[in-house]
Amino acid sequence: MKVLVTGGAGYIGSHTVLELLNQDIDVVVVDNLVNANVESLKRVEQLTGKPVDFVQADVRDSRALDAVFAEHSISAVIHFAGLKAVGESVAKPLDYYSANVYGSTVLAQAMAAAGVHRMIFSSSATVYGEGAQAPYVETMPRGVTSNPYGTSKAMVEQVLTDVANADPAWSVVLLRYFNPIGAHESGQIGEDPQGIPNNLMPFIAQVAVGRREQLSIFGDDYDTADGTCERDYLHVVDLAKGHVKALQATTHSGTHVYNLGTGTATSVKQMVHAFERVNNVQIPYTIAPRRAGDLAAFWANADKAATELDWRAEKDLADMVRDTWRWQQQNPNGYI
Ligand code: NAD
Ligand code: WQD
Repeated sequence: MKVLVTGGAGYIGSHTVLELLNQDIDVVVVDNLVNANVESLKRVEQLTGKPVDFVQADVRDSRALDAVFAEHSISAVIHFAGLKAVGESVAKPLDYYSANVYGSTVLAQAMAAAGVHRMIFSSSATVYGEGAQAPYVETMPRGVTSNPYGTSKAMVEQVLTDVANADPAWSVVLLRYFNPIGAHESGQIGEDPQGIPNNLMPFIAQVAVGRREQLSIFGDDYDTADGTCERDYLHVVDLAKGHVKALQATTHSGTHVYNLGTGTATSVKQMVHAFERVNNVQIPYTIAPRRAGDLAAFWANADKAATELDWRAEKDLADMVRDTWRWQQQNPNGYI
């Protein structure tokens, strides 16, 4: 079996490629490298001892996609490619709708033309919207999203649902990730953000390694146990394995939605203290104003993935902070 992985050189994509290869599933990666370094795939090849076919191309380039489908016998597509920075999406909405929504439609058209009808799509817990009550469960409707990034994910969910409704040949899986963190336990692949990290875990890791002076905690006056925001953090290797499970379990027609999270929430302060305790390092921090758009607390109801995919997160918070720190120490400046 061969799978096309778009965005496979990126953070979640590279971990997923590794897990696919470990299951003897062949992989072709299409990535335009706008937010990745091809070194990630070289390391996946070293770790698995297996080759990765790589094509540098944009998912909006239908000719490039047609050539990939013509050259390889692809059974399914795992679609990670897209832009993901929430703040940037507010400033550059067209970039986000183009890469994420238009890119997904071009990809789906190329798949249909090639007779490939299985897609697993990287969606996000953000599609539950601002008013949803945690824990989020898949039976809840999508809510009102608060930024173009989130809206683009909700739009792609709808586009792919419509495609599956129109033609029973399609099997679409929408995986709603909560907050993926961590790195492969080898320390060889991990998250390598460009510039100042937007997300909590890479920021903490860069403070720990001395690239940043201190962490700003965005608000400690939320209605939570310690006043800081709570999220459902899951290990990226668990998340990657969730894709393999979804690939194996969902071959049937229609649209299938799954939360991928642990089902538990951790506060920002708890995360900082876990990182300090497990790794024996200090993370200096200051309390800063709230960040616009942040919700106080949300986490997954992850029962459906457990029941239908036989997937549950296996790694705990200590694994997440330990593996992040190993990756950061071994690669203080990322892949360069
Ligand atoms: P990432 O930026 O590391 O990976 C995305 C990859 O897609 C990168 O390698 C990038 O170079 C590539 N890419 C971007 N635009 C492209 C295009 N037009 N054509 C071809 N390649 C393109 O991000 P990630 O964290 O690995 O996220 C993967 C997917 O999961 C994204 O769709 C993201 O929105 C989604 N997601 C991520 C999170 C998270 O917290 N990391 C949470 C929920 C959903
Ligand atoms: C977590 C908590 C911050 C940085 C984002 C996207 C979401 C999804 C995952 C893609 C929050 C706090 C952060 C810092 C801090 N991505 N924080 N100081 O916002 O839950 O989710 O990534 O789909 O769509 O919105 O994750 O890691 O940015 O923040 O205090 O320097 O850490 O306020 O409470 P978030 P995050």
